[in-house]
Amino acid sequence: MSYVVPGFSPATAGHYVGSEIRTLESRHVEFELQGRVALVTGSARNIGRAIALTLAGAGASVMVNARRAPADADGVAEAIVRAGGRAAATAADVSDPDAVARLVASTVERFDRLDILVNNASVRREADFASLDYSEWRDILGTTLDGAYLCCRTALPHLIGSDAGAIINIGGVSSHMGAPRRAHVIAAKMGLVGLTHALAHDLAPHRITVNCVAPGLIQTRRTGPEPAHHASLSPPIGRRGTPEDIAETVRFLCGPYARYITGQTVHVNGGLYMP
Ligand SMILES: NC(=O)c1ccc[n+]([C@@H]2O[C@H](COP(=O)([O-])OP(=O)(O)OC[C@H]3O[C@@H](n4cnc5c(N)ncnc54)[C@H](OP(=O)(O)O)[C@@H]3O)[C@@H](O)[C@H]2O)c1
Repeated sequence: MSYVVPGFSPATAGHYVGSEIRTLESRHVEFELQGRVALVTGSARNIGRAIALTLAGAGASVMVNARRAPADADGVAEAIVRAGGRAAATAADVSDPDAVARLVASTVERFDRLDILVNNASVRREADFASLDYSEWRDILGTTLDGAYLCCRTALPHLIGSDAGAIINIGGVSSHMGAPRRAHVIAAKMGLVGLTHALAHDLAPHRITVNCVAPGLIQTRRTGPEPAHHASLSPPIGRRGTPEDIAETVRFLCGPYARYITGQTVHVNGGLYMP
């Protein structure tokens, strides 16, 4: 299976000469993440699943993860292996330091290295701020923000060993636009933007890029009710995004053509929010 660089057409190669043609041809046929190992948290369904499948399709070996859906996580890994890729699944709660240590260790034991970390796991719920108790606040921040911190810190020695490490934090458009009844979710997701900025500085000397991908309104199967404020959102492009829209952006940011991009938030939202 080959991966075709979007926008590349053999017809345009005639405009280039010598080694430039070879470069374009090799981009046309290579697996851009061949030999890389990726850990994608919360990848048993929806956006995380699409990221796991897309990175595997670009040649990466993928550790799939979920907290409490081992059958779904195994199913994603099995789909990758059936398609000729390399994958495994590990159940682990990213808010639990010991579980994260086991998750990272099992990734490295299985695939020998770790190059890409995608912090996708999160929980989102609506709550009036007046009744938002501390345990609910901690639960949301514990998974989304503490979980990302724990995964980054635990994976770091292995990412340093990569010659092209990449961390992608999955944010969300509501943390940039604001939204009702989401103080905990928005605070956690904006924390991820800050973590992205800080780690882009700290990890650049180790050749690790750190970016945030902020999805807009994405067509996913939800376990809870659709947030009420979604009814008022209308992206100019005229449709909801797909999990693959997010996954392809993540793939690009993890790949060889994005090595000069770090500390950025890439909005994938059909024009719903324009910074
Ligand atoms: N869907 C959208 O429209 C949208 C919009 C903006 C941003 N996003 C962001 O995109 C990402 C994916 O969204 P989604 O809609 O695909 O999410 P989702 O369907 O709710 O899936 C979340 C995944 O995270 C896992 N997870 C939750 N808590 C975990 C924990 N403590 N440890 C490990 N895994 C955990 C879940 O597994 P378990 O079921 O086993 O817990 C599940 O596999 C999230 O970061 C979300 O905030 C989504």
